[in-house]
Amino acid sequence: MSDEFDDAAGEAADMLRGATRVAVLTGAGVSADSGVPTFRASDGLWEGHRIEDVATPSGFARDPDLVWEFYNQRRVNIAKVTPNPGHDALAALERHYGDGFTLATQNVDGLHQIAGSQRVLELHGCLRQTRCLGCEAVEDRGLNHLGARPLCPACGGRLRPNIVWFHESLPPDVLGAAEDAAAACDVFLVVGTSAVVFPAAGLIPVARANGATVIEFNLTRTDASSYADVGLYGRSGDTLPLVVRRLGL
Ligand code: APR
Repeated sequence: MSDEFDDAAGEAADMLRGATRVAVLTGAGVSADSGVPTFRASDGLWEGHRIEDVATPSGFARDPDLVWEFYNQRRVNIAKVTPNPGHDALAALERHYGDGFTLATQNVDGLHQIAGSQRVLELHGCLRQTRCLGCEAVEDRGLNHLGARPLCPACGGRLRPNIVWFHESLPPDVLGAAEDAAAACDVFLVVGTSAVVFPAAGLIPVARANGATVIEFNLTRTDASSYADVGLYGRSGDTLPLVVRRLGL
């Protein structure tokens, strides 16, 4: 560990020690150390697909079976991975701060919950769930390959993954709770996100404008870096536990 990194880790730990309310925004990077690929790979593709083909309402309208199978594969892939020490460190912070802690994630993989985080605001939906296009019923179907698109058991309508795609709105109650936590916190952690997708990335300036100290945990500098008081650049599976250990947790 470099001296520079050591100083930043010490500063981050001091900030957290003085805080009673902590809010966190995580993204794909927090799951990278579990072996889950991040979104913005250099070839512009997401597991071999163009994002507009598999993560937009128009892509789904064009080829629902392709999109359905893409999410089948994502479920199967996520079923094979486990949380990493970064997820564990965030669960330890929740146990420490109790009701003063809020974790909002852009991830749909459910790894925070498996690591023990109890209250997770899933801004972009959940891979385990399907939603009926007819009656809107949401069902947890686990991480199984669901085969060809089944019909809704309640109304016979067509199903879709319960994921927030590009050009869609986030669930307003979930986003509202995340915004409230960002506005009220003493320290805001940005973990493993390129901070380019809104409104999730907008939580960072909300926290900052309301007086929070911002700590960034990313592999490299990102669009969040200009808001960050401290940046810890490296794998969050290493950097988060390092800071959390300094708190004696
Ligand atoms: N540790 C910490 N950070 C990491 C690691 C790691 N091991 N590996 C990668 N990162 C960082 C990268 O530096 C990058 O800043 O994680 C970030 C991943 O960025 P994206 O791939 O853009 O993921 P994310 O910000 O979560 O994307 C936001 O876009 O595609 C949509 O809806 C999807 O929720 C997703 C949203």
